[in-house]
Parts: sequence; structure tokens; C-alpha cells
Amino acid sequence: MADNAGMQQGSPAIGAAGLVPAAPGAGGTEGSGAAGGSARIAVKKAQLRSSPRPKKLEKLGVYSSCKAEGACKCNGWKSQNPPPTPPRTDQQSSAVNLQEPCRSCSHTLGDHVTHLENISEEEMNRLLGIVLDVEYLYTCVHKEEDADTKQVYFSLFKLLRKSIVQMGKPMLEAQDSPPFEKPSIEQGVNNFVQYKFSHLPSKERQTIMELAKMFLNQINYWQLETPSQRRQRVLNDDAAGYKANYTRWLCYCNVPQFCDSLPRYETTQIFGRTLLRSVFTVMRKQLLEQARQEKDKLPPEKRTLILTHFPKFLSMLEEEVYSHSSPIWSQDFLAGASGGQIPIRPGNALADRPSELTSDSGEKRKPTEPLPHEDSKRPRVVGDIPLELINEVMATITDPAAIPETSLLSAHSARDEAARLEERRGVIEFHVIGNSLNQKPNKRILMWLVGLQNVFSHQLPRMPKEYITRLVFDPKHKTLSLIKDGRVIGGICFRMFPSQGFTEIVFCAVTSNEQVKGYGTHLMNHLKEYHIKHEILNFLTYADEYAIGYFKKQGFSKDIKVPKAKYVGYIKDYEGATLMGCELNPSIPYTEFSVIIKKQKEIIKKLIERKQAQIRKVYPGLSCFKEGVRQIPIESIPGIRKKELKDPDQLYSTLKTILQHVKSHQNAWPFMEPVKKTEAPGYYQVIRFPMDLKTMSERLKSRYYTTRKLFMADMQRIFTNCREYNPPESEYYKCANLLEKFFYTKIKEAGLIEK
Ligand code: ACO
Repeated sequence: MADNAGMQQGSPAIGAAGLVPAAPGAGGTEGSGAAGGSARIAVKKAQLRSSPRPKKLEKLGVYSSCKAEGACKCNGWKSQNPPPTPPRTDQQSSAVNLQEPCRSCSHTLGDHVTHLENISEEEMNRLLGIVLDVEYLYTCVHKEEDADTKQVYFSLFKLLRKSIVQMGKPMLEAQDSPPFEKPSIEQGVNNFVQYKFSHLPSKERQTIMELAKMFLNQINYWQLETPSQRRQRVLNDDAAGYKANYTRWLCYCNVPQFCDSLPRYETTQIFGRTLLRSVFTVMRKQLLEQARQEKDKLPPEKRTLILTHFPKFLSMLEEEVYSHSSPIWSQDFLAGASGGQIPIRPGNALADRPSELTSDSGEKRKPTEPLPHEDSKRPRVVGDIPLELINEVMATITDPAAIPETSLLSAHSARDEAARLEERRGVIEFHVIGNSLNQKPNKRILMWLVGLQNVFSHQLPRMPKEYITRLVFDPKHKTLSLIKDGRVIGGICFRMFPSQGFTEIVFCAVTSNEQVKGYGTHLMNHLKEYHIKHEILNFLTYADEYAIGYFKKQGFSKDIKVPKAKYVGYIKDYEGATLMGCELNPSIPYTEFSVIIKKQKEIIKKLIERKQAQIRKVYPGLSCFKEGVRQIPIESIPGIRKKELKDPDQLYSTLKTILQHVKSHQNAWPFMEPVKKTEAPGYYQVIRFPMDLKTMSERLKSRYYTTRKLFMADMQRIFTNCREYNPPESEYYKCANLLEKFFYTKIKEAGLIEK
């Protein structure tokens, strides 16, 4: 591409209406960009359609081979008074004469268009449309300086010419036809919205959908950079892959925007993640830059959307676009029973993920919660609450995210709620940053690193300043930094040891006037999520004696789960500090954990209320005492059920005996302890409510089984889980059947259920 006068790679201009795509354009052709090309051709086509028939025949004759008798080889009529090259439609020749001889073969114009005599006006207009597209492409071929683009224009030019001669439909003879990748960009972005935002109240979700639409619209009008421009910008790229996609994009998306005789497809519908990856970074940068430049022109209702939400939306999407295992690109990202798509797990809100400014793009964790639609297939255990009921209740509870902020910050709210809210509003940001020897230093990151060094030095006065500086700037260390108003107010500096399966937390601090506001907790939650994503599930740290309380509240304990051999020699030893560890559970979305718990409590409360409403029955008061009766057996009070009054000690000892029998049974061995993840891959993704005899013994000991129903439900869960996870021919499955039979015999013998 010569000077980019026409085709400017990149943004189609935000426009005062707010990220409204500008008109399409092809590569470097007419003056102010080929954007105007589409409109100009449309005008010309309209003019030509209203021309007299001989004029139309003249136009078509130029592209039609001579039909005169004999072997005339002339492949197009040429006027004696040729118009400038290329032929122009607005060239008004006074009168068209079908008898006018061809400058080339001397046969008349009529001899060239005999095949068109009986065709309908509609077909004639269609062919003329192709003619104008051919002429436009002819200009493009001549003006274009980029070799790859020129070649594509020329191929399309030939294709369209051929289709005029053959009076056929222009069909691209590409080896592969659209769609070129699945899922499409549109589907992926759709999945992203479902994956990350489906938990939001509908109004917020609406906003997100608007952002997604806006983004997709931008891609559909995005001008891709030419393969040679890209080669200069990106080294070590899959150049051949990009060129193939660029060619497809020109043929199916870009050129058809102005040459409408070619079938047109939307970029977002026929391309997938590969193309998105090759444009995303540049596109994001340019869109944000334009938004900033045009911020004053934006209509007020679009300002917040574009200036506040759009950048966060793009950051989150970027993470999914470049992640190797994001579920949004999976063909199995399922559509829910209701027809719409369903989330795989509750996602984070707009700003709930730290972005990474260093180069390492990590693996995203896989969805861990079972898909809701699977519930219907799950075997039921006595006491299970029907999914429909839970859904109904969920629909009635107020989404915690929709609760006014003031009530969120009540005395009962979780420690990190205020911080989470601030993050959502964009008041604070989290970034994992680090010094890099491979990349050019980024000024902003360097400033943040200096800020972190200051916070750590002030908050950890016993640490030598030089030591802090050394570690903060050491490329092997990273720091999750907390930014407020562009300034660093806290952070956690850490070093990952993936081969050893743990990360050492080296420094952790929040600046004095921002402490005890929940930032420390939210920082740690982000750090946990970051590590789950990078598949490191253990933290170790030497906690300062004053910080032991804080670490305990974040789930750390002095009981270290990492084997000593794994960390001795790796982790730094600090005098006077206590080694503490924390094991992460990859199923927990830590930054959302307290919201989820809150929601669950709300659901349980509602379920209890419903149950109470069902069973509530008001009995008349007892009158017997007025009549002189002094004492009655408690079971005789109406409404009190005998079974529930069973002596708790008696129930306990009965259950203990049964459990003992079950544990001693020869088929009980697979169920003695919780299933080990290492022995049963994916077990905890399939089995939502694990249960085992050891857990049951602990529950019994702690007097959890206040009714036989609770006990039986747990036992039943063991058998149901086993049959769900294992195939019927497996030994485990058979053990479950036999032990179940035995269990029910024992229960009957004990009189807990009828024989
Ligand atoms: N001792 C006991 N509990 C504490 C302490 C402490 N020193 N600091 C915070 N907590 C409690 C809070 O009261 C709160 O409890 P709650 O949820 O029951 O109310 C909980 O821990 C979390 O509080 P946050 O507000 O989320 O944490 P904060 O933003 O205050 O940050 C931090 C905690 C980082 C420890 C901060 O207080 C700090 O910078 N302290 C000085 C530096 C320091 O001691 N760092 C740790 C050194 S050890 C190391 O770096 C490996």
C-alpha cells in the first residue's frame, strides 16, 4: 500500500455518535479512501439502470465476445470513438447505434450483443451492475501498490468479467468457503458475554450487550493491515496464515462492501479467533485512542459506556482472546434449554479481573462448575431440592449486585465488598506487573514499580530498602498492584515456582491510610484467581508477627501443605517471621466468593420460608390444663411429630451402629475416604456433592445427623455419586449396589424405615 491515502488499516473512526463505523472502503483507491467508492458506484448503477436499452447494450457489448458468424475472436466491442480508459458510465455518448462497427473486429455492436436481445430488464441490470464493479476493480488494480492486495483485486476483476461473458453469478473459486473458523467471532463474543456477565442484573447485562454489539460492528468495518504491513510490525507471526485470512477478508467481506455483485459476508460471522487475535491488540489501542480524542463529541448517553465501560470490556475480552484455554472458543459452549446461551460459571463483573501488563499470558482456568443443563440428567437423592424450585427462587431474590451500595456496606457485609464495588466502578484497578529484560520498559509500569517499592518500604520498615528494591525490580518477581487514582496504594510481590508447585509471597502491604478497608482481602483474592489461572495452587509466605492475623483471615495457616522438599532452598527464610501456607481451591472464584455466599444464603432463606409456608398449620391451643390436667405426654400435643422427638442419643447410637456395620462391609472399601483428585480425573467436575464414609463419621460425631433423613441422604449420595461417575460394569459400581442393599437392610432392621 503506497501512502495509505485510501485504505487506512485500522479504525473506521468512532464518529460523533459514538463508535459508529464509517463507510467501508477498499484498498487505497479513490482519493479520500475508497469509502466513497461504495456510494459512487451505487449512484452510477442507478443512473445506468434508468438509461435506454441501446445504451445498456452498448455498455454490455464492451464485455461481450463477438457473435458474428465465423470464428471472430473479438472479446469485446470497441467504439470508434473510445472514451477515456477506463470506460466511464457517465460518459454521455449522444446516440448509441447498434450498427456501429467495432474498432477491433469491424463487426457491429449488434453482433456482440445478440445473446442479450431477449433477456429481461432485471437480468440486464444485474449484468450492468457487474460491469460497473468490474470497472471499479479495474481502477483499484491500477491504483493499488500493495502487491498482495493488487493481486486479489485482479483475480476478482477477472472473475467478474468472466461472469458477464458467461452471464452467470460470480462465484469465488476458493478452495475453502466461509465460515473459515468456528466458533465465529460473533459467537465467541456472545459466549464471552454469557460467560462473564450472565450473573449481572438485566440492566447491566443490557449495557454489556450494547458494548458487544458495538465491538462486533467495529470489526465488520475494520480495515485489516496488508500482509506486508503486518510483517513489518509483527515478527515471528504466522505470515502465511495471516495472508490467507487477509485474502479471504478482501474477497468475502471488504470488496463486496462496494462491489455488491459479489456475495458479502460479515467478518464477525465467517472468521473466528485466529483473525481476531491478529487484529485485537492494534484495534483495541486505536479504538481507545479515538474514544479519548473524540470524547467531547460523544453524546452524553454514550460517554460512560464508551469511556468507562468499553475499556474494561476490551481488557476482559482480550484476556479471553489470547488465552489458550478460554471456554468461549469451545464449540461445546452450550446453548441452554431455554434457547439462549448459558453461563459455565458465574463470571466476574466488568472490572473484576486483574489485567496483566507483563508479557506472560497465562492459561485461563477451565470451567469448573457443571453445566446447569446437566442437572436434569443427574440422579436425584432423597432430600434434593428440585432444580426448578431453585430456579424459581433465584428469580425472586434480589441480585446482590443490584442492591443499593449503602446496604451492601452494612455491618454484615463481607470485608471485601467495598473494594469489589470500587473496582466495578473503576475507582481502583488491579494489575500484575513486573520488570522485564525482554521488553522495552514501559514508563507507566516503571512508575508503578517505584510506587510499590515506596509502599513496601514504608509498611515494612524492618526490611532493608535496597532489598525491597532488588526484589520488586527483579524480573523473576511480579507484583499484583492496587492502583487508585493512578497511584499505587498497595500490592503483593510474589515469585512463582511452577516446577515446585507453589508461589512465595514476598511482600504484602497496603498504604497506611487505606488499610482495613478490604483492599488487602481483595488483593489476596485477585492473587488467588491469578494463580488458579496459572495452575499454581499453593502460597507460602513468611508472615510478619503483626500480619499473622491478616493472613489467617485470608485462609493461611501454619500447617504447611507443600512438602518441605519442594520449598527448602527455594523460599527465602526470614528471621522472626512465621512460615504460613494457603492451599487454593480451583473451583472457587475468589473475588466473587463472598457475593456467591451471600446469594446462596438468600436462596436458602427463601427456600426455608417456602417450606415453612407449606407446613405451617395452626392448631387450637390446649384446653386440658384449664380442666385440671397437670401433665400430658409431649407426643400428644397436636402438630408435634413423634419421629422427630426420638431421643437424640438413641438416634445417635442407632446411626453409629449402622455406620459401623456399613464401614465393616466387604464392599465398603471404595467409599471409606473422599475421592482423590489424582485417582479420579475430573471427579469434582462431575460430582457436585461428594460424600464418603469418613466424612459421614465426622458428621455423626459432631451430631450433625439430627434426623435419620439427613443420614440416609448422605449415604444415598455415596451410592448415587458412584453410579454417576463409574460405568455399570466397573467394580465400584457393583460395590455401590451391594453396599446399598446392605445399608437398607440395616436401616430396616433398626426400624428407621418400614420393613
Ligand atoms: N493483624 C490482624 N488482623 C489484621 C491485620 C493485622 N495486622 N491487618 C488487617 N487485619 C484484618 C482486618 O481487620 C480484616 O479483618 P476483618 O475482615 O475481620 O475485619 C482483615 O484482616 C482484612 O483486612 P483488609 O482491610 O482486607 O486488609 P488491609 O487492606 O488492611 O491490608 C495488610 C492488610 C496488607 C496486612 C495491611 O494491614 C498492611 O499493609 N500492614 C502493614 C504491612 C504488613 O504487615 N504486611 C504484611 C507483612 S508480611 C509479608 O509481607 C509477607
